Amino acid sequence: MSILWREDTRELHIRNDFFSYIIVLLPNGEPSLAYFGPALAAEESYSRLARFEDRALSTHTPDLPTEFCLDWARREYPVYGRGDFRFPALEVQDQRGLPLLLDLRYQGHLIRPGKPPIEGLPSTYTERPQEAETVTVFLRDETWGVEVELHYTVYADYPILARHATVRNSGSSPLRLNRALSAVIDLDDDSWDLVQFSGAWARERHLVRRPLVQGSQSISSNRGVSSAQQNPAVLLARRDTTEQFGEVYGLALVYSGNFSIEAEVGSHGDTRLGAGINPFGFSWVLEGGGVFETPEVIVGYTDRGLTALSQSFHRLFGERLARGVWRDRARPILLNNWEATYFDFTEEKLLRIASDAKDLGVELFVLDDGWFGERNDDTSSLGDWEANLKKLPHGVEGLARKVEALGLKFGLWIEPEMVSPRSQLYQVHPDWAVGSIADRRTLGRNQLVLDLSRPEVVDYLAAAIGKLLRSAPISYIKWDMNRQLTEPLSLGLPLDRQGEFFHRYVLGLYELYRRLTEEFSGVLFESCSAGGNRFDPGILAYAPQGWVSDDTDAVERLRIQWGTSFFYPPSSMGAHVSAVPNHQVGRRTPIGTRSAVAFFGAFGYELDPGALSDSERDEIREQIRFYKEWREVFQFGTLYRLRGPYDGDGNEVWWMSVSKDKRRAVVQRTQILARPNPPFGRLTLRGLDGAFRYRVSVRPSSPVKNEASIRWNAGSRRGDELMRAGLLLGGDGWNGVNRGDFASWIFTLEAE
Ligand code: GLA
Repeated sequence: MSILWREDTRELHIRNDFFSYIIVLLPNGEPSLAYFGPALAAEESYSRLARFEDRALSTHTPDLPTEFCLDWARREYPVYGRGDFRFPALEVQDQRGLPLLLDLRYQGHLIRPGKPPIEGLPSTYTERPQEAETVTVFLRDETWGVEVELHYTVYADYPILARHATVRNSGSSPLRLNRALSAVIDLDDDSWDLVQFSGAWARERHLVRRPLVQGSQSISSNRGVSSAQQNPAVLLARRDTTEQFGEVYGLALVYSGNFSIEAEVGSHGDTRLGAGINPFGFSWVLEGGGVFETPEVIVGYTDRGLTALSQSFHRLFGERLARGVWRDRARPILLNNWEATYFDFTEEKLLRIASDAKDLGVELFVLDDGWFGERNDDTSSLGDWEANLKKLPHGVEGLARKVEALGLKFGLWIEPEMVSPRSQLYQVHPDWAVGSIADRRTLGRNQLVLDLSRPEVVDYLAAAIGKLLRSAPISYIKWDMNRQLTEPLSLGLPLDRQGEFFHRYVLGLYELYRRLTEEFSGVLFESCSAGGNRFDPGILAYAPQGWVSDDTDAVERLRIQWGTSFFYPPSSMGAHVSAVPNHQVGRRTPIGTRSAVAFFGAFGYELDPGALSDSERDEIREQIRFYKEWREVFQFGTLYRLRGPYDGDGNEVWWMSVSKDKRRAVVQRTQILARPNPPFGRLTLRGLDGAFRYRVSVRPSSPVKNEASIRWNAGSRRGDELMRAGLLLGGDGWNGVNRGDFASWIFTLEAE
């Protein structure tokens, strides 16, 4: 890893073993991306790669060479107005509302070991300065005194570049930012597919892949949260890039609010990729001397396919974005009472469920919604974080102590950002809800959002939730957030600053998370937002795991977890076995298949063990025993996507996880619909040590006699055979051994 400045050619070469990112200065004095791809030799100059040519319809500045046209220049932080008609990174107005024509020129740069934090925002970090190097490039517009710092961090051990920008008003009059993206990357050609992770409640992060075409294509959120609709992360993959082969860039924004990621293909096949806070509805007053920090963008590059890129993000996000004692610690197997009881429970009922859970081997009992105020349905009490003594006569503390006495840890659900109009908190502080006119505030799930842009609201919540956490032995918190934001107005902000509301809300949220996770550093925080409505890198910095989706159906989860796995590590994915018929889709899948899919994450249960048959309880006991034995591989192993819901007819989904030392691996196969008399085939495994000999065992979701999957594949096989010849497919489904729809198999591999 190194960052080199060549004074003779005035170029900056940011480099590690995986890639080079080379910045040169354009004739107008602004920085330009000359190259971003596989690592190039450090001693060479590459300034020739910034190509110029005069073309029809080009514009140029009088004192600069005519072949230099901004409209197809590769600019590091573009602004509008001097011949570049693509989307800009920065838009600034003066006090009168006049858009400024900026001319941001290079002033100098500073190279430092390590990586400084970003004030008020989550970001990746180093534990030792030698893990990374950071360069800040200083730009300045002389006329208006607008200064921009572009920050680039290169890690030694990750094929990852972290970027963000700082904007400063060095003048004395206030300015208004209408757009300040975190980063723009101008690529040389457009033969890329844009891959995004889109959806809705209960079907989050479904993969969508489409070729870039001339013009703009973008994803965004204006919902106040990163959203279930679009995740703030995309790939640009070559048209022929697959899981195993080919070039791909990955870009993820470390941010939990309104975002925009845009790719614009210009008139000459040039591709501009930009990411940051969504400019829609955003405007920020920057006082004289004021500074605005943009969220971090993480950019990955590999020429070795999609799986390799995902593995880099998993490592970085798992090791240097998530933080706290739980970052590297095995996550407990939990049982959550939500689908078991919904709002209808008593202390007695909960203790019976907890005791059953303990008997099965569960480690953590989580009490979900409905324990506070007068909350017996979703129409009241959010904000009143005191136990409902009719349900819990001994309070949270009494219940928690009894759960601990059973030999379980105790966890609790909260939704701190919300307030119900029917609540004591709302009676006292109606002005604390988002939106200015109380009786015209739009409800979502009968609730309003507390205005976290106001410091006094954040202070109040830190105190209220802090008190709750101190009041009982609580080891785990599920932090929910069940609606999207409307009427983005704050009674705490002056009229000319209402455009700051959305971002200030996110800053308030991060501040609240920071205070609580720092004070209660031993507590495991799991984020949730009606499932995966705010499952993003920003939240991951505070909560090392998140509830992936309210949809716990095994078949639906194949797509959801497949998509989630492109950026987020298995340890961050809350995945539970629930009852059948499934509460979201009504489907009946075998309990073995439900576990096979949920194993590859932070595992748990979402059901009442007392409502199960003895044989189902035995099966769960066995699942938990098995999970404990393989937990390290499931949660912290290296994940390989082998065959996905988007391959072929999507009927079979395979993925596998390999331990760091490659001595152990688990492979998951789910076949959605049964197929009679199936074709033969092979599936090659990945990530093993070719020279090791592995003992392969097969656990089908339910026992079927004389099964080919077991006969053909179990036994002792060399790693290179498994990776080249692979496992044999196609025998199951012949001659009456077909096990029906939604069958699954878990293969375990142990080096002998
Ligand atoms: C959300 C969560 C669920 C559950 C309910 C409780 O929908 O995603 O897991 O906690 O809220 O109201």
